[in-house]
Amino acid sequence: MSKQILILPGDGIGPEIMAEAVKVLEVANSKFNLGFELSFDDLGGAAYDRYGVPLADETLDRARAADAVLLGAVGGPKWDTIDPALRPERGLLKIRSELGLFGNLRPAILYPQLAQASTLKPEVVSGLDILIVRELTGGIYFGKPRERTTLENGERMAYDTLPYSESEVRRIAKVGFDMAMVRNKKLCSVDKANVLASSQLWREVVEEVAKDYPEVELSHMYVDNAAMQLVRAPKQFDVIVTDNMFGDILSDQASMLTGSIGMLPSASLDVNNKGMYEPCHGSAPDIAGQGIANPLATILSVSMMLRYSFAQVAAADAIEQAVSQVLDQGLRTGDIQSEGCRKVGTVEMGDAVVAALKNL
Ligand code: NAD
Ligand code: IPM
Ligand code: MN
Repeated sequence: MSKQILILPGDGIGPEIMAEAVKVLEVANSKFNLGFELSFDDLGGAAYDRYGVPLADETLDRARAADAVLLGAVGGPKWDTIDPALRPERGLLKIRSELGLFGNLRPAILYPQLAQASTLKPEVVSGLDILIVRELTGGIYFGKPRERTTLENGERMAYDTLPYSESEVRRIAKVGFDMAMVRNKKLCSVDKANVLASSQLWREVVEEVAKDYPEVELSHMYVDNAAMQLVRAPKQFDVIVTDNMFGDILSDQASMLTGSIGMLPSASLDVNNKGMYEPCHGSAPDIAGQGIANPLATILSVSMMLRYSFAQVAAADAIEQAVSQVLDQGLRTGDIQSEGCRKVGTVEMGDAVVAALKNL
């Protein structure tokens, strides 16, 4: 039976990088007989322009009906001043929440060819392979109340709320431990338990879940220290499990260990491993429309989709191998450019991955 993939290119560089990822997906589809059927819709600013909302009900229905969703990126200056409830980012949060995609996997892997592209010394990052497991449907992103009000003295004020329930922490902690079990059995839970009540509960529940994983070496770290350690000695980490906002920030930081935010894919999974796949980066309005964005994070997100949603390990491996070969050939988009390499645009990079994949 055919499998339905819903493609949501989004805004800014979203359509540019997605066009390359779709080319790669189509080659994998025929080469490995995957039986995928692709359909397209809008999310974010593109959806606001077309439907008046950043996520239309019909799009959400299509996403629910699909076997997996592939997303580019959303947002941009054009929509920064509209009603906050209609901002592109709200569409992204809504689709994550409505699909129950609480488990966000953000692997930061340094391709050896890119050791020179990182801003850190090669010896600090070489061989880096860490996984950030980010809670994606709770915490301060979704907590209520979230308000803007006016104080009695006329001053403007605003507040957000950071709630976590025991069950929300337990299920993401399990994802962290499960990932640790299939990797190096080492898990670091990152929180701010010296200050926040939600983090104190987080730590307590993670400790409880740990009892079911006696083989996993668990440590806890405050997020400020974790941010520092990620830059000082990133290879001390294997799997990191953390909340929604800390995970957002730490994964962007980790991306620079791999050379560029343009290299970091992600998977967002529900309880049944149904998922949405997207690069960790945003819509990069500063370079949108110039044909220079790095499509590799989105192409690698396709690989994650094949691995996690469809257990198509050979096809997933092949895409990663094709990416590696292209890096071996010395092709680099501007964000990962280093001396002696050939600078290419988005399309040329996508074409090179397609060619390598066909030849495997
Ligand atoms: P960003 O990730 O879009 O860009 C940060 C920097 O990284 C920019 O200099 C950009 O040019 C560069 N960059 C990002 N992706 C790149 C790529 N593939 N190749 C080369 N360079 C790349 O973050 P931002 O500027 O803070 O946000 C821009 C917009 O994107 C905002 O509207 C934000 O809300 C949105 N955003 C969306 C997502 C998402 O859809 N998942 C993620 C992050 C930010
Ligand atoms: C990400 C993005 C989103 C987030 C924004 C655009 C809502 O930064 O996917 O990392 O904060 O989750
Ligand atoms: Mn982010």
